[in-house]
Amino acid sequence: MGETLENHAARVIQSVRPGAAADAALREYLGGNRTLGAVGRRSVSRAVFAYYRWLNWLVPSQSAQKRVLGALELQARFDRDPSSIKAEALAARAVPAWLAGEMELSAGYLRRLQQEPALWIRAKVGTAQAVARGLGSAEPASLPPPLAAPADLSALRYRGTADLHKEPGFQSGAFEIQDLSSQLVGLAASPEPGGTWWDACAGEGGKTLHLSDLMRNKGLVWATDRSVRRLSILKRRAARAGMFNYRSAVWTGTGTAPFRTKCDGVLLDAPCSGVGTWQRNPHARWTTTLDDVKELAAVQSGLLALAAASVKPGGRLVYAVCTLTRSETSEVADGFGAAHADFEPAPMALAGGAPRVSLLPEDLDANGMFIAAWRRLR
Ligand SMILES: C[S@@+](CC[C@H](N)C(=O)[O-])C[C@H]1O[C@@H](n2cnc3c(N)ncnc32)[C@H](O)[C@@H]1O
Repeated sequence: MGETLENHAARVIQSVRPGAAADAALREYLGGNRTLGAVGRRSVSRAVFAYYRWLNWLVPSQSAQKRVLGALELQARFDRDPSSIKAEALAARAVPAWLAGEMELSAGYLRRLQQEPALWIRAKVGTAQAVARGLGSAEPASLPPPLAAPADLSALRYRGTADLHKEPGFQSGAFEIQDLSSQLVGLAASPEPGGTWWDACAGEGGKTLHLSDLMRNKGLVWATDRSVRRLSILKRRAARAGMFNYRSAVWTGTGTAPFRTKCDGVLLDAPCSGVGTWQRNPHARWTTTLDDVKELAAVQSGLLALAAASVKPGGRLVYAVCTLTRSETSEVADGFGAAHADFEPAPMALAGGAPRVSLLPEDLDANGMFIAAWRRLR
């Protein structure tokens, strides 16, 4: 690697501007250091993420390099024996103080938060075994019994060291890198082949691609987002995956949908605080505020009401957020239910047919996610 690991990581940390995201700074740094190689890049990423995971244990007066080494040591000690740090200490130092007012901080959750995240792959429906064989070091997801695995689940946990972006299966669209909880959102939506769905906050298309696959490339998925840049990435991914049953359009989250059709289903994968991704992206713990949560909850309620208007009678509405704060999850869902007598909670194809579920990182080794589903009355 030439330079020491702690020097690389320290440079990334020092390049993070106030209010900016460390993972963006990391991407930029790695992009400018092509000589690092897959192993080096992974080591630098691990060191930067360990730094933000253990930030409140580090000594501010020490050099950035020393703090990085301190964080790696704490990570190694914790990985060897997670009970070596009391849950009370984790609650006080591993998350911001406001979080306790927004969700239950169980010992299991806090311990999971301090571990490195799992890497999940979504194979095309029916191809998980073949993809696992081709890659090696990949095993099918096993969900805890209360969740029950839906038939079309094709999630694989990857434990190998290859750069997946360079794998032939990735380049041919046979698999995508997608968190297990995100895959469960598509399965909770359970779109029928031949139907019409609207993925209202489609972003770079992670869930659009999944909906299309679950529909066996038949019917239509409208993919909208306010970000033209993200939609252009979606188009590239769709071409790679051989996904043809979609159309994309800009939608800024005001007024009606940019098409007239009423849909068999609408998925609102809404912008959120991302608390459910704090294991993967620990820096966000220190930049996200309670004000952000409250503002986003208002945005989510507004978007959900607009999205609902495009659901045809008998159609499904699915709300998903990768967060676990009460304000953005049950409170948004309760508020929607109270204001929309023409919608009833609808069973999902997971969690025993419950109409809402909180997917917890400690249960799945995946992002925290909240999903709720309704059906529009005929
Ligand atoms: C959770 S991300 C979507 C991730 C995407 N569904 C996926 O699976 O890859 C939320 C998306 O909402 C978009 N967004 C935020 N505010 C919006 C608004 N007011 N109207 C439309 N889209 C919005 C963001 O650009 C972002 O792409």
